Amino acid sequence: MSSVRGEFSSRFGFIMAAAGSAVGLGNIWGFPTQTASNGGAAFVLVYLVLAFCLAYPALMAELVIGRHGQANAVSSLKKIAPNQPKAAFVVGFGGIICAGLILSFYAIVAGWMLSATLSPIAEISQLSATATWLNTQSLGRDLIFTAIFIMMTIAIISKGVENGIEKWSKRLMPALLGILAALIAYVLTQDGAEAGLKAYLVPDFSQILNPDLLVSALGQAFFSLSLGTSVMIIYGSYISKQENLVSLGAYVTLIDVLIAFVAGLLIIPAMYVAQEQGVQIFSETGALLSEDTLVFQVLPALFNSMGDIGYLVALAFFALMSIAALTSSISMLEAPVSYTVENFGMNRLQATWIIGGLISIISFVIVFNFSTLFGFVISLTTQFGQPLIGMLCCIFVGWMWSRHKLLTEIQMGYGDVEHSVFWKIWPWYIKFVCPIAIALVFFNSL
Ligand code: PFF
Repeated sequence: MSSVRGEFSSRFGFIMAAAGSAVGLGNIWGFPTQTASNGGAAFVLVYLVLAFCLAYPALMAELVIGRHGQANAVSSLKKIAPNQPKAAFVVGFGGIICAGLILSFYAIVAGWMLSATLSPIAEISQLSATATWLNTQSLGRDLIFTAIFIMMTIAIISKGVENGIEKWSKRLMPALLGILAALIAYVLTQDGAEAGLKAYLVPDFSQILNPDLLVSALGQAFFSLSLGTSVMIIYGSYISKQENLVSLGAYVTLIDVLIAFVAGLLIIPAMYVAQEQGVQIFSETGALLSEDTLVFQVLPALFNSMGDIGYLVALAFFALMSIAALTSSISMLEAPVSYTVENFGMNRLQATWIIGGLISIISFVIVFNFSTLFGFVISLTTQFGQPLIGMLCCIFVGWMWSRHKLLTEIQMGYGDVEHSVFWKIWPWYIKFVCPIAIALVFFNSL
């Protein structure tokens, strides 16, 4: 067992790393696409409510488990429920497996982004249909770029918490914000952008209680905050006892939601601009024709229409996607690596290469059996694994831990938490509201 654990060196470092995990393809691709296919602004509204009222409390549960345990997910859960070592193992290890499996498909998509960043614009615009993009001819490219992306992730994680995760998150997250702002400024000046803004910001209230919309919004919020994967437990374990967990968790949620919202300001208007330019994005009823249209049709069409500058904008956009994916993928790799290092006493470099290698093999198997496995692994992890494990983490904190010990942990770095609004609401939330709401959504998605 290694005795020297890493720790984030600063508050800013933690926020960038955890927000880096949260902000990813889920925000820039997933959220706007879900918004466009679920009735526009109504989805945005429901998402905001669920993110703050359900995902934030669940995030706090995972962070507090880790900060208390100061160890990998399995050991941290065992510390909370010493009488339930098997349950702690199942939940912690389940989360770790979930993180590894998510990385195995996420790396493939991130590889597409990476290859698009590096390929000339002419080639991107030929890839106007998902079918073309995913045909056998791109098998070699998928394999190579998936491998390159996983190697980049390995390179960062092998350097540890402060010199790897924290250092790179602090560099990459501001770069991401800059690129996003520049792209929005461009798109909003184009014809058609106004109609897009309206669809994005003016809700159709009749849609709000639609059960499909609720299921999609909660699933999206869980994926976006990286819940149910042990990732936030392990990131929580690197937070010093002097920090105020409640506000750190709130910052991470706020940044995640804000970036998803801002990405929508780019992507939804871009869809309408592309439609204006003759690309078929929506059907006659106003429904999104395909969820894949966004990256494979809308954006390439938009970049093409820009003339010479289009190449640069495409480069910026795909670089943005690759960066967002990288700060998320490092967190997914850290979950199994920290477990292996601490449980088997392996050194970090070895552990990172072994786990990274295993995940690459799973990714390659998915690439070779794309039509059967890709969708299956996504559903298995995001529709089943994440909600289930997220719910179990809430149950661990709410039901298996003494309220007094929980209070002591939250109080560190906070002060008088006992009289705060947070403490009046959150423990009840974790005990009842979160597990029940998550279970409802979970069974609904079955
Ligand atoms: N939150 C990331 C995104 O929105 O793209 C995805 C993610 C990261 C999911 C880490 C799960 C995870 F453990």
